[in-house]
Amino acid sequence: MCGIVCYVGNKDAKPILLEGLKRLEYRGYDSAGLAVQDGEKIRWSRAVGKIVELESKLNGVEMKGTIGIAHTRWATHGEPSEENAHPQRDRDENVFVIHNGIIENYHTLRKKLEREGISFRSETDTEVLAHLIALNFTGDLSDAVRKTMSQVEGTFGIGVIHRFTPGEIVVARRGSPLIIGVSDEGHFVASDVAAMARYTNKVVHLEDNELASVTVDDFSISTAQAKHIVRSTETVEWRAQDAELNGFPHFMLKEIYEQPMTVKNAIRGRLEPGEGVPKLGGIMPVWDKLKECRHMVLVACGTSHYAACVGKYIFEKLTEIDTEVGLASEFRYRKLNFPPNTFVIAISQSGETADTLAAIREAKRKGASLLGIVNVVGSSISRETDAGIYNHAGPEIGVASTKNFTSQLTILTLLALLLGRHQSLSLTEGIQAIRALESLPDLMQRVLSQANHIEAISEKYYRCRNWLFLGRKYNYPIAMEGALKLKEVSYIHAEGYAAGEMKHGPIALINPEMPTVAIIPKDEMYEKMTSNIHEVKSRKGPVIAIATEGDDRIRDVVDDLIEVPATLDFLNPLLTVIPCQLLAYYCAKFLDRDIDKPRNLAKSVTVE
Ligand code: M6R
Repeated sequence: MCGIVCYVGNKDAKPILLEGLKRLEYRGYDSAGLAVQDGEKIRWSRAVGKIVELESKLNGVEMKGTIGIAHTRWATHGEPSEENAHPQRDRDENVFVIHNGIIENYHTLRKKLEREGISFRSETDTEVLAHLIALNFTGDLSDAVRKTMSQVEGTFGIGVIHRFTPGEIVVARRGSPLIIGVSDEGHFVASDVAAMARYTNKVVHLEDNELASVTVDDFSISTAQAKHIVRSTETVEWRAQDAELNGFPHFMLKEIYEQPMTVKNAIRGRLEPGEGVPKLGGIMPVWDKLKECRHMVLVACGTSHYAACVGKYIFEKLTEIDTEVGLASEFRYRKLNFPPNTFVIAISQSGETADTLAAIREAKRKGASLLGIVNVVGSSISRETDAGIYNHAGPEIGVASTKNFTSQLTILTLLALLLGRHQSLSLTEGIQAIRALESLPDLMQRVLSQANHIEAISEKYYRCRNWLFLGRKYNYPIAMEGALKLKEVSYIHAEGYAAGEMKHGPIALINPEMPTVAIIPKDEMYEKMTSNIHEVKSRKGPVIAIATEGDDRIRDVVDDLIEVPATLDFLNPLLTVIPCQLLAYYCAKFLDRDIDKPRNLAKSVTVE
């Protein structure tokens, strides 16, 4: 989704802003722009398409100045066009604004401003902000922004410069993250630490309804009510090289290959093998309540939602807790009535997904305690939950989530195991689970070593326009995740189904042009899955099976076989998902898709 990067310092702003924008590309966008201030002169440029379009437009254009604001836009109000790109400006070109989020009362405000004689150049909600700030300006930019904040409804992260306050950027936040970065070269403000990772890892998070005036050597934070806030810097574990390709052709492939390491990171320091118990420092603040919990709700969107679906089965296996899964985008519209001591767990890579945030706010209102399973440290979900567990998976740049899915599954397993061991799970079962978790990274490596074989299978089928993914129990969500991955990056239509449901409808689609990916590890579902495979084969549908190593029985039935090593049944999804990720990646590669930035998608979905 939209990205913000601002800089005020002692260096030329233009190249720093362009580099920051490139580091935000992974979030998904359709146009970009920047404005650089030099005394009372502000020069700006915008372009539709990739950052390289903006860069080539700026080639040879003189744009001096050590202060500037820049933006990647993901269209919400108005099509992707140069006039709708940010920065937006007021009538006299004094105020320049970049904005993430949505101004919900923009229509009313726009009509009012038009009645007052202001004509609009764009279709954006952001332009309203530029005009309001200009009208509210009486010499102090922070005051003008503060007054504007009181007039608008909705969500925003904004960066503003004014021709008559050179040397100052004012930023403000309500619902859209903004982070101030402190470095020797000056100050940054961005919606994502990735934009400034090359310069600093010292950051200050702005909270909702706060604004900050940022200059070359200082920043001052205050509330919407003008109360001064003192907040010290935090250090983020984010290395610039983590956001580089390091020899891989795409971030998606790099991140698929990182999974043995990221799963190791998710369990590092969190196991007590002798006791058969994990230790999770992040949930200690709520432990007394949590260990008594008998009702749990996992809420999330997209891939994180499929992790939650696997998590439900894992909680049912290892604990006595009644667990349900809620799709975050629907959750807040339900009539929520939680039993006492309910925990709602938000699962989110970015920690900024608007639907997931809205779901936990509603759950809080209804009396639930909140936990977060989040990757981005300091993100909104990590701050709004009572306690939580970080994924420690490092930055995920590919828009298609891969390594975070397996980290989320690992953490859900640790949490279920911890709670289960305080309930009925025996020491032997605990030790067995911990040993199996510890061996996962090596097993994942074995799956990855079949990448060439999976590439060859993808080459055989990538022209098929419709695919079906089937699984049961722990692997039913993997069927849905496999289908989602294929859709996202290759634009091939795919459906993920519980295998038992196939005969209730999707079987009508089976034909020789429609491959079925059947996820059939050796577990209690094996025989039933085998029958489903036969049902597909009898209708001449090609079958690619993801099965346990050495399963010669299935080898004889299916067209193509991808083997995964044996592990405990509830850990199978951590292995079976890898072939699904690789099938999606290689099909997208053969179709020459923009794998890391698929069309229309955004990495972090910050609007509802
Ligand atoms: O950051 P989150 O985990 O909250 O994001 C949730 C979904 O938007 C995300 O998983 C999305 O479905 C990805 N594109 C999946 O690859």
